[in-house]
Amino acid sequence: MSSTTHPIGKNPIPRHLISIDDLDRAAIERILDRAESFAEVQGREIKKVPALRGRTVVNLFYEASTRTSSSFELAAKRLSADVVSVRSIGSSVEKGESLKDTVQTLSAYDPAAIVIRSPHVGAAQLVAGWTSAAVINAGDGKHEHPTQALLDVFTLRRELGSLDDVKIWIVGDVLHSRVARSDILAFRRMGAAVTVCAPPTLIPRGVEALGCQATPTLGGLDEADVIYVLRMQRERMRDSFVPSLREYAERYQINSARLRPGQLVMHPGPVNRGVELSGEVIDSDQALIGAQVKAGVAVRMAVLYELLVPAPVLAVVA
Ligand code: NCD
Repeated sequence: MSSTTHPIGKNPIPRHLISIDDLDRAAIERILDRAESFAEVQGREIKKVPALRGRTVVNLFYEASTRTSSSFELAAKRLSADVVSVRSIGSSVEKGESLKDTVQTLSAYDPAAIVIRSPHVGAAQLVAGWTSAAVINAGDGKHEHPTQALLDVFTLRRELGSLDDVKIWIVGDVLHSRVARSDILAFRRMGAAVTVCAPPTLIPRGVEALGCQATPTLGGLDEADVIYVLRMQRERMRDSFVPSLREYAERYQINSARLRPGQLVMHPGPVNRGVELSGEVIDSDQALIGAQVKAGVAVRMAVLYELLVPAPVLAVVA
């Protein structure tokens, strides 16, 4: 007598989450549905479930973070995991320990997952080769930030019901933005039409290959249902890409003169108030920025859950 096992459900969730390309539409929908159930838990007085009791999640942040690091920490804690959060500042990274040695050191605690943010493109992929833990990319240089894209899709799906045929304009420093890259992939996969808009120096060459259009001016912004605004990533700029922030704001700032009623405004944070977005737009009812932050916890709970809790298996005895 032999027995084989088949996972229930046909949309396998990958072992690691490095890129939105790891997920097809069905897998994204599965994570979002799971996030809906965790969002409901977040509305309760006791916001904790025992799903990851006895398991360990390591958060390893080599770059500044407020929203992503706090929401991953909260997500792991609300799933009852033990959480270790390490930042490069104040850790042995400052003493010259390499990423590989740090990962191997932390792997000695046998974590179920390592969440990594790094200024270097490809860092999360490298970490996945050095540990037996599931690795979640919380931003690798200007490459990808898949959980941000998932929470953005979650927020829009809640607001609009579906992203099919929704017109989304991404405005700002697309060149240096990992959020832009992950969002273009995720929005497209969910059926939206995406246009990126920036000064020509800040539009990556060949960006259309990701399935979007590109334009150097805000002309035509009226057609957008959603305007997703990005910060100038000055920490990643080696040259001067725009004459000045004042001139950038004059031509590209999303303000009440440029926004039409009914358009939705998103931003991953941190916002440079008065540069890419005007204060009155940030504080208006059209902005979903607060909803995005709130969605971060439920969506990251869903990602941790889907990666770490095995799907029920159906034993077929032959
Ligand atoms: C973004 C990031 O770090 O890539 N922020 C975030 O994760 N919420 C965007 C940014 O820093 O501009």
